[in-house]
Amino acid sequence: MLSLERAKKVKGELRVPSDKSISHRAVIFSSLARGESFIKEWLDSADTRATLSVMRALGVRVKREGKNLRVYGRGYSLSEPVDVLNAKNSGTTARLMLGVLSTQPFFSTLTGDKSLRQRPMLRVVEPLRRMGADIKGRQGGDRLPVSVVGGRLKGISFYNEKSSAQVKSSLLLAGLRAEGYTQVVEPTLSRDHTERMLSAFGAKLRREKVQEGHLVELQGFQDLEATEIVCPADPSSASFFVALAALLEGSELLLKEVLVNPTRDRFFRKLKEMGASVSYEDLRELSGEPVADLRVEYSGRLKAVEVRPEEVPSLIDELPVLAVVMALAEGTSRVTGAQELRVKESDRIRAVVENLRAMGAKVEELPDGFEIEGVERLRSGKVKTYGDHRIAMAFSVAGLTAQGQTIIDDHKCVSVSYPEFYRDLDYILVR
Ligand code: S3P
Repeated sequence: MLSLERAKKVKGELRVPSDKSISHRAVIFSSLARGESFIKEWLDSADTRATLSVMRALGVRVKREGKNLRVYGRGYSLSEPVDVLNAKNSGTTARLMLGVLSTQPFFSTLTGDKSLRQRPMLRVVEPLRRMGADIKGRQGGDRLPVSVVGGRLKGISFYNEKSSAQVKSSLLLAGLRAEGYTQVVEPTLSRDHTERMLSAFGAKLRREKVQEGHLVELQGFQDLEATEIVCPADPSSASFFVALAALLEGSELLLKEVLVNPTRDRFFRKLKEMGASVSYEDLRELSGEPVADLRVEYSGRLKAVEVRPEEVPSLIDELPVLAVVMALAEGTSRVTGAQELRVKESDRIRAVVENLRAMGAKVEELPDGFEIEGVERLRSGKVKTYGDHRIAMAFSVAGLTAQGQTIIDDHKCVSVSYPEFYRDLDYILVR
């Protein structure tokens, strides 16, 4: 439990922890590569630790060197684990590793924590079965625990209707050990870190815009070659501070080395559309990904905005904190086409609606989003996080703008993506 009070403003300079999606992938790809890889500025959080311990249980040797990892790759030849693998709270670990395990000719079982055991897995299990993996699990394989006996796969063409990066990545990881070609087409381009990083590990892939959307294709039995990956700062973690700077009068922040990949940075662009002052300085490239220093300055009350379905994938994880910003903007904002929010670490549509209402906002719940009529000031309330890190951080932002004392029922869940969130917050807060 944590109690928060209204802050005056935020000020200063900060490098938030590294990107979670990239840190997961860096461990997985370097484990599957041949040779010794070096991962710089790796995110050390509960989710990424889950990936690391699953890889270790599959026989991969990893040495920690401060904030970096040295990974001794096994070239797609892992060992049968002696116990159940546990992805804990991490959907990315579970879904990407199901793709990896499908390539391995041994028995393995994967489980997760209570939240992950309620999340759908058929989205990867079904196409992996089509590729030839033998997968069994609860509810026909839609829920963890799931057991896999893999090997002898063949490539498939898959239409990734939900534009899920986890599904795309899982199938590409399996496709690297499948006969023939594996193709994934998605209506909206989802985060493309897998494509970029596979190229950095020497894999050849074809990416093209096609009539149905975006195509990525690779040929099977390509080897990954060890390399060095530098992980940039996580835009999803940065979003909470960007929101605070845009909401608290007199704020000024410089957030260093933030990933601004166009499949990830729409929250920053949305805030600009609402009238916030957000600019990218020193735009550069780091391990094949665009990064910039983000300057954010308070620029008055923001205006309502709409998020359309095709915009959702590029700000999906930022929607809870965007909802908080919308609740304080002038006019009525709307998000649609975000039904995927219901199957994240919690039902994030329900969590956002309930908590915003408890803090005096006018919100309507939609099956696939929400409609929010902005108020001048939120009132303090009791926030229920549902053990979801992004709900805890988004509503900490809300609490810091509200009158009175806001209670966050379980703030420790931030360790999933940002263990030092409250310490960093303290560092930039002016009370
Ligand atoms: C992720 C993809 C997204 C995102 C999640 C991380 C990834 O999920 O919400 O936090 O690293 O590939 P979906 O693939 O289910 O959209």
